[in-house]
Amino acid sequence: MALVKSNQGHSPAANLMFNEKIRQMIQEGHTIYHFGFGQAPFPVIETALDSLKENAGQNAYLPVQGLPELRQGICNFHARYDSLENLDPNNVIAGPGSKELIYLLLNIFNGTVLLLAPSWPTYQPQAALAGKKPVIIPTSFDNNWQLTPELLEQALESNHVTGNKILILNNPDNPTGTSYGDAQLVALSKAFRKNNVIVLSDEIYARLHYTQSHVTLAKHYPEGTIISSGLSKWASAGGWRIGYHIYPPELSSLLAAVKGEASHTYSCAPAPMQFAVAKMFSDLVSCDEYIRHTTRIMEAVSSFCCRELRSVGVKMVTPKAGYYVFPDFEVIRPALTLRGLTTCQEMCDTLLKEASVALMASGPAYLRPLKELTTRLCYVNFEGKGALANSRELGLDEPLPETFVQEFCTPVYDGIMALKNWVLQLKDEQKS
Ligand SMILES: Cc1ncc(COP(=O)(O)O)c(C=O)c1O
Repeated sequence: MALVKSNQGHSPAANLMFNEKIRQMIQEGHTIYHFGFGQAPFPVIETALDSLKENAGQNAYLPVQGLPELRQGICNFHARYDSLENLDPNNVIAGPGSKELIYLLLNIFNGTVLLLAPSWPTYQPQAALAGKKPVIIPTSFDNNWQLTPELLEQALESNHVTGNKILILNNPDNPTGTSYGDAQLVALSKAFRKNNVIVLSDEIYARLHYTQSHVTLAKHYPEGTIISSGLSKWASAGGWRIGYHIYPPELSSLLAAVKGEASHTYSCAPAPMQFAVAKMFSDLVSCDEYIRHTTRIMEAVSSFCCRELRSVGVKMVTPKAGYYVFPDFEVIRPALTLRGLTTCQEMCDTLLKEASVALMASGPAYLRPLKELTTRLCYVNFEGKGALANSRELGLDEPLPETFVQEFCTPVYDGIMALKNWVLQLKDEQKS
């Protein structure tokens, strides 16, 4: 008898495995343009770093739900940035990364999990680990890879979903970079309310909205929204493992159960980090400054990538936030077919071999069809320290110069040029 239970969720995370493979190749001396992993390129926000040094000696276990000052700081942060004025620290739980908190929630939830396709390749394996088979709602390029009330209702009807349901909505989204505006969220909220759908609103990229105009779902659907966020993205502190969830009072039974699971699994998030982040939240002016610089850099890199790839016929929705774009290489399908390549994975393997560009194929990991030629391109493989310092030197009144990406985000610049040339080469093969 097999020692390991059969469960789809056990296979390792596709994005982490891909990153390890590429890192290994780089260590072996290969030059690779790595667009396969979404890690913050910037140094961790300075205010948190100083406080971490002061708090390195904090060695006691903290409350399971998180340090009260940290939970209060989280409420203040969301009051300032999301205009959520009445949050109660008792409804916040801080844990070792939002990923863990999402899993714990899926694990105790008694009902159906709804996921969009494409979506972050962790949700589906987590649902499987929690013993659930999610209902998948496919989205498309034509509707910006976004959910609409019609898509939701169709999915509920055709899958005969009744009883409790929880949808994970990633806004802004990994892998597509799209974000929902006010009117869209109002329409969706009506459908959520009507169909009794609880939403885990994964807003971890909210502060990386390029025009700082993120709208939280909790503004329109407070009673049914659990906000998921953390420090990993905007504060560049992924390795610190601090994330949190904010529950509405109406869903306190879910929070209590997650807290119970937390007490039996990880006890508390790391103490020095909790103190450091609590201190960081007490200085929101510094957060503001950091956010404004980092988002304008990311926007410059994003628009460079989109402009260059579009110039050779690659299709994509323009990202509004975050680190990712979801380009579709349908334009070279005839050349790939001539070479006998049919799947997105085969295309990405060939791209890596011939142009040293590492892109992650969408396919089943992103809940997309095997033969769709969409990929996830993370435009963060540059040294953010220098880029940030230069942006600060210029000041926020001065726009970033045209040459900024080439000068300060050089691996992205070179990699996009290599990718573009490879596409051109394949288009030539199609012609001849
Ligand atoms: C969409 C999304 N949600 C959640 C996370 C997890 O973040 P954390 O570091 O808080 O666990 C990530 C990280 O890649 C992500 O892309």
